[in-house]
Amino acid sequence: MQKAKGTYDVFGEYGKKIRVVENILSDLMEVYDYEYFRTPIFEASEVFHRGVGDTTDIVTKETYDFKDRGDRDMTLRPEGTAGIVRSYIENKYYGNPNVPSKIWYYGPMFRYERPQSGRFREFYQFGVEVFGSNDPLTDAEVISIPVNFYKMLGLKQIKVHINSLGDTESRDNYRKALKDYFRPHLDSLCEDCHVRFEKNPLRILDCKVDKDLDVMKKAPKTIDFLNEESKSHFDKVKEYLDAMNIEYIEDPNLVRGLDYYTHTVFEVEASVEGFGAQNILCGGGRYNKLVGTLGGPDTPGVGFAMGMERLMTALDYEKINLIEEDGIDAYIIPMSENEKGYSIGICNALRLSGYRTDMDYMSRNIKSNFKQSERLNAKYVIIIGEEETKNNVLTIKDNETKDEYKVKVSELVDFLDSKFDAHECGCGHCHE
Ligand code: HAM
Repeated sequence: MQKAKGTYDVFGEYGKKIRVVENILSDLMEVYDYEYFRTPIFEASEVFHRGVGDTTDIVTKETYDFKDRGDRDMTLRPEGTAGIVRSYIENKYYGNPNVPSKIWYYGPMFRYERPQSGRFREFYQFGVEVFGSNDPLTDAEVISIPVNFYKMLGLKQIKVHINSLGDTESRDNYRKALKDYFRPHLDSLCEDCHVRFEKNPLRILDCKVDKDLDVMKKAPKTIDFLNEESKSHFDKVKEYLDAMNIEYIEDPNLVRGLDYYTHTVFEVEASVEGFGAQNILCGGGRYNKLVGTLGGPDTPGVGFAMGMERLMTALDYEKINLIEEDGIDAYIIPMSENEKGYSIGICNALRLSGYRTDMDYMSRNIKSNFKQSERLNAKYVIIIGEEETKNNVLTIKDNETKDEYKVKVSELVDFLDSKFDAHECGCGHCHE
């Protein structure tokens, strides 16, 4: 049996590294004062059709749709925003006096895309959504999250692209201009673009088939259709990014592939040479109509999501190693079958005290047990034989200095506390 196309298993180095990254992300969300949400992996199909948009590639070509046994139309989530908005409305978070609601989420998303490097059918996204404020401060804050995070990880070769689609009025004017522009060129566009022309001309701009045509390159730009209010919103976003020393490139061609955006849109690109075509590490923007579209009260929102797989590739490309191999605290060796019960008791007590502890489960001889303790990079080895169990006194060996100690069981935790405290000096081996 083999894994399904476009999916992957996590283990080994990748597993270690992704856990470090995930921990940094959740710590960062504490720092930013965001609240954790988790929504189901599948939702009623309508959530995504109405949320992401009926004319997007994501909804028309890429969703995993199925009927459940009750004949309901269900969809595996292709992204996180629509589900979070559904949950925000259903749980009446709009009534929360603590405005804005700042939310983060993390989990697998599913898109039936053609798999290639950096593009999977099951992939993980970390994302945030901020509800209840139309202040450009929140757009700037959201953009700062991935930028600061990538900086914290040590990534250097990234570029932030920003653009504005404007409010409904600006978008309507732009839509009209696009229709006027594309109408005489319809013959040169693909079948799908004909449908897009009727339903949502903005979607023509992210057509994967026609993207290199000249007519695409010369299409009107959103920025030229912004009304005063939209322009001033965008100017403020840029001002606040400047205030945080966040560099960005204004990219008039950036429209994003989801329907819900208004005002600011942005993407962060890995600009390392040779990274490949799928080099967008994250993307997002403002969506002031989405909560209303999904049945909630009119509430502005802004957010972004980052793909974890591309991030991991970027870390590899920039040779950033986040794994600290700092071994376990204690390794316990029962000398025979008779001491196994006593040993697992000691092991359990140490784990309850927070010491990283492991033991021999393979009935190894003493020599290969010491080998194993070295493989695990154990700081102390605790040897438990007949004598030890009888007297409740343990033999403890410091694996580095080779010093040997006799320690009463009742004093074991104190002994280790004193040893690890003695190292509390920034040496990297101290017990936390
Ligand atoms: P998106 O641009 O569709 O936006 O996806 C965000 C990120 O997810 C992409 O930049 C990419 O890193 C990653 N990603 C997308 N598809 C794949 C794939 N097939 N394989 C691997 N990685 C992928 C959204 O999903 C919006 N919900 C973002 C958002 C949140 N906007 C506002 N709030």
